[in-house]
Amino acid sequence: MAILFSPDEFALMKKDLVLYKCALKNMRTRVDVILEEFMHLQENNPIEHIKGRVKTPESIARKLHRRGFALTAENARTQLTDIAGLRCICSFSLDVGKIADAIVRQPDIKVKKMRDYISTPKVSGYRSFHLIMDVPVHLTDTTLHLPVEVQIRTQAMDFWASLEHKVRYSFKDDMPESIIRELWTCAQKISELDERMHKVQDVTSLTRQRK
Ligand code: GTP
Ligand code: MG
Repeated sequence: MAILFSPDEFALMKKDLVLYKCALKNMRTRVDVILEEFMHLQENNPIEHIKGRVKTPESIARKLHRRGFALTAENARTQLTDIAGLRCICSFSLDVGKIADAIVRQPDIKVKKMRDYISTPKVSGYRSFHLIMDVPVHLTDTTLHLPVEVQIRTQAMDFWASLEHKVRYSFKDDMPESIIRELWTCAQKISELDERMHKVQDVTSLTRQRK
């Protein structure tokens, strides 16, 4: 059975999504500026790519339903913090902290929540750095603040997360224990890879400094 908003709530939700899109654009511009500075003023390229998305009404409705909330635009606004999401994919593990610091230091946006799943991975093996930012949207006669979820991770962490998500989806959240264990082992191997690449980066930057 399809889980959908009523026509009235759908209309309200569509209006709210315009605001989330604006908050996402605002956040994206900030990350783009940070990236310009790293690339052109510090000759360093810490981000491989950036992806942004606003959840669809269908996906918002499914998440509200899963969490036991009535399908209303108000519940979406008050209960969900990932309607707007930005993902920054970094080259090396060291870059994740650099980008997170630069975002957190911005004086006019507040951090609503910070989760370091790199120092403390999730039981699944998932590693990533998460920020929920309170982003202003200046309209003609008012300023609104909306949450934007920023996920910062390395390419290796992203590779694992996207495959694990696909596998989880194909099992409809009912993964056999053996697959859970296998994915966890893969996450450890990926963490080792990041660690080894970090050492390579260390050696490379030392060599560059000597030249
Ligand atoms: P969600 O309801 O899933 O958004 O989780 P949450 O609000 O408790 O926040 P959390 O920081 O745990 O997760 C936020 C987002 O991180 C998720 O929507 C996923 O994009 C990602 N994520 C968290 N855990 C996992 C995981 O085990 N595997 C994968 N692939 N992604 C994860
Ligand atoms: Mg989410």
